[in-house]
Amino acid sequence: MKIVNTIEEVRAIVKEWKDNGLSVGLVPTMGYLHEGHASLIKKASQENDRVVVSDFVNPTQFAPNEDFESYPRDIAHDCAIAEENGADIIFNPSAEEMYDSNATTFVNMTGITEELCGKTRPTHFKGVCTVVTKLFNIVTPDRAYFGQKDAQQLAIIMKMVKELNFGIEIVPCPIIREFDGLAKSSRNTYLSTEERKAALILNKSLNEVKKMIFDGEKDTSVLKAKLTQVIHTEPLAKIDYAEIVSFPDIVPLTYAKGDFLVAVAVYIGRTRLIDNFIIENGTEK
Ligand code: PAJ
Repeated sequence: MKIVNTIEEVRAIVKEWKDNGLSVGLVPTMGYLHEGHASLIKKASQENDRVVVSDFVNPTQFAPNEDFESYPRDIAHDCAIAEENGADIIFNPSAEEMYDSNATTFVNMTGITEELCGKTRPTHFKGVCTVVTKLFNIVTPDRAYFGQKDAQQLAIIMKMVKELNFGIEIVPCPIIREFDGLAKSSRNTYLSTEERKAALILNKSLNEVKKMIFDGEKDTSVLKAKLTQVIHTEPLAKIDYAEIVSFPDIVPLTYAKGDFLVAVAVYIGRTRLIDNFIIENGTEK
């Protein structure tokens, strides 16, 4: 596996692959890779001849008060995980390589980016869509892999690809969890021992509501009240949102019918964590 830092070099390598008729999979990440990322890389290497993993903590998707500076970074560890799971290139550019300091072009989607995470992170998805567009243009993959862990991000990227005619297949990948149910996340590293225990409340609240749904409850105000009530049993938890929306449209629902997403964002101490599940055709996706 090769570490590549420049756009020019990625383009040259991908061109050679394509000239030889090889298919290319892209796994965009912000690094500090864990088993969640590894599952995407593994799937990409099963489904494509060559795999590019991008490893870039994207400054434009963090607001000034967020954790851009402290976001965990460990490129040596990332290389080991990427290589183990079948990556051919890890693309690790500098911010200067990715962005002109006076850049004026951004990809800004309305509506879908304003719900859920978009409410408390109003500039976040503009940064995500812009960097993902740039990565798509640099790597020109046949397929790109996104985790359902970030279900709204997945829905946004699918919509962006369709509306902007990227001609790239977006492959959704299931959430990978710790042994006790906590969704794997690079941000779990911020949690103290006590907070790590408290963080289980996200998955617990979702599981209780899932049971109610399978028992026939459809009223989202009842279901959301349950999420809130369960999360509030944990003193270290503070709710950002607990929502039920259509999937992949991300429109708030009065009744949990059709394909829908149950999503929570919760502060555990100062760390903001997200988790969710999706129901498609009456069964969990
Ligand atoms: P990052 O948080 O590093 O996640 C990279 C990819 O890994 C995303 O598609 C995310 O959904 C997936 N992922 C993270 N944790 C996962 C888990 N526990 N199970 C399955 N998949 C998981 O998401 C981003 O980076 C950035 O916003 C990015 C798309 C790279 C743009 O900068």
